[in-house]
Amino acid sequence: TTKHLIAPSVLAANFAKLYDDIQVINQSEADWFHVDIMDGVFVPNISFGFPVMQAIAKHAVKPLDVHLMIVDPDRYLKICKDSGASNITVHYEACTHLHRTLAAIKELGCKAGVALNPHTPVSLLKDVLTDIDLVCIMSVNPGFGGQKFIEQTYAKIQELRALSSGVNDSLLIEIDGGVDIRNAAKLIEAGADVLVAGSSIFSAEDPTDAIRQLKNTPPL
Ligand code: DX5
Ligand code: ZN
Repeated sequence: TTKHLIAPSVLAANFAKLYDDIQVINQSEADWFHVDIMDGVFVPNISFGFPVMQAIAKHAVKPLDVHLMIVDPDRYLKICKDSGASNITVHYEACTHLHRTLAAIKELGCKAGVALNPHTPVSLLKDVLTDIDLVCIMSVNPGFGGQKFIEQTYAKIQELRALSSGVNDSLLIEIDGGVDIRNAAKLIEAGADVLVAGSSIFSAEDPTDAIRQLKNTPPL
């Protein structure tokens, strides 16, 4: 079994010193940059847009894992790719024609991800499992960092593992929201491949060490 990946969320970085926090991630054991784009419509918050993402991409030496919390993501896939995305994750709840959207992401040469809100069952992905590279299971309601982890997430991970087993064995399961050193082991044990973490990394006294601890957490 290969080691899980760590994707620090730039949303929790110090935006006034973004370059410094990008260097922290570059020089750490982190695997990806998690980039949260919000539109104030799909979620009740606005983070930053593609110009800021382009600035991040200019200095990041690791893949950008972009989480689009926006309605009608099809309109922005091309600029997202052109702004430096390696992975593009859209929300299940925002896509009327999810199969088409996933094909469009792959057409651009990006890995295609689907994010599920806490109320959305993993079983809804059954008929598109082979079209997906990554499923982002939201373990908080999207829109804000620093929220409390939802415990039901463990069961969703196990259910998705079972659902995808033998159908898409390279599917990556990513967990986003409230991830910290206290729940990391249990998440990995349940079958998580990628841990996104914002506040638990950037509120730590030593973010580099927080990343190292998350990366080196063994399953329970
Ligand atoms: C929430 C975002 C998350 C957020 C996670 O809507 O999708 O990526 O940055 O932040 P924490 O780790 O603080 O819950
Ligand atoms: Zn996110």
